[in-house]
Amino acid sequence: MSVHTKLYEGKAKIIYPTDDPEILLAVFKDDATAFNAQKRGSIQEKGRINNSISSKLFQELEARGIKTHFIDNPAANQMRIRAVKILPLEVVVRNIAAGSLCQQTGLPLGTVLKMPLVEFYYKNDQLGDPLLTRDRLLLMELATPEQVDSITHLALKINDFLKEFFQRCNITLVDFKLEFGLDSQQQLLLADEISPDTCRLWDISAGDDPNLRVLDKDRFRRDLGNVEDAYQEVLKRVLNEL
Ligand code: TMP
Ligand code: ASP
Repeated sequence: MSVHTKLYEGKAKIIYPTDDPEILLAVFKDDATAFNAQKRGSIQEKGRINNSISSKLFQELEARGIKTHFIDNPAANQMRIRAVKILPLEVVVRNIAAGSLCQQTGLPLGTVLKMPLVEFYYKNDQLGDPLLTRDRLLLMELATPEQVDSITHLALKINDFLKEFFQRCNITLVDFKLEFGLDSQQQLLLADEISPDTCRLWDISAGDDPNLRVLDKDRFRRDLGNVEDAYQEVLKRVLNEL
C-alpha cells in the first residue's frame, strides 16, 4: 500500500485515504482529551486497546445484522473502515443517570432509568456539542426524519446487545455515545468507535463505590488515577467474555 497524507485528524484518531476511495484507514491515538479538549493528556496503549475493543464490538454487532464501517485490522492500533460521510450528530444512549444528565436534570447519580434514553447532540466543537431537540435537528437538516427514526431504532438495538455483552463481562453499561455515517450508496452505517472513551462502564464486582467502580474515561476526566489499568481491564474482559 502506498503512503498517503492524512485526510483528517481528530482528537482520538487519524484518518488516511487508501488506494480504494471506498476504504479509509483509521489510526487510533493514545492522546486523550476531555471537556472539549480543554483537558489534554495521553493514556498509554489507548490506541491499541480502543481499536481492539471497538473492532470486537463492531464484529459482534455485524453478526447481529447491524451494519458498521468496520472492515479489518491491518495493525494493533489500526482499523480499515468503509468511507462514510459522518452525520454531525453524537447519539447518546443512557441506561443509568450520570454525567450531563445529572448536571442538567438534578437526577441523582446512579438512578436506573425505566427506559433507555436516546439523545442527540450537535457535533460541533465551537458550540460545545449542544443537546438538540428533534425539531432543532430537523430544522437544521442535520438528518432526515427517516434517518432520525432509523438511528433511534438502531441505537436501541445496539444498546440491547451492548448491555447484555458487558453484563457478561461483569460490567454495567451506564451510557455511551455513537456516531453514524452514510456510505456512497447513502446506506446508514455505525461508525467511529465504541470504547472506554465513549462509554461509561462500571465494574459490578467493585460495588457501589462511585470512584472504584469506574472503568472508563471518567477516570481521566475526574483525575481518579489508574486510567491505563481500567482500559486494560475492559480489554481483557471484552476479549475473554463468555
Ligand atoms: P455526558 O454525560 O457527558 O453527556 O456523556 C454521555 C456519554 O457520551 C458518556 O458515555 C461519554 C460519551 N461522550 C463522548 O463519547 N464524547 C463526548 O464528547 C462526550 C461529552 C461524551
Ligand atoms: N470529546 C471530548 C473532548 O472534546 C472528550 C470527552 O469528554 O469525552 O475532549
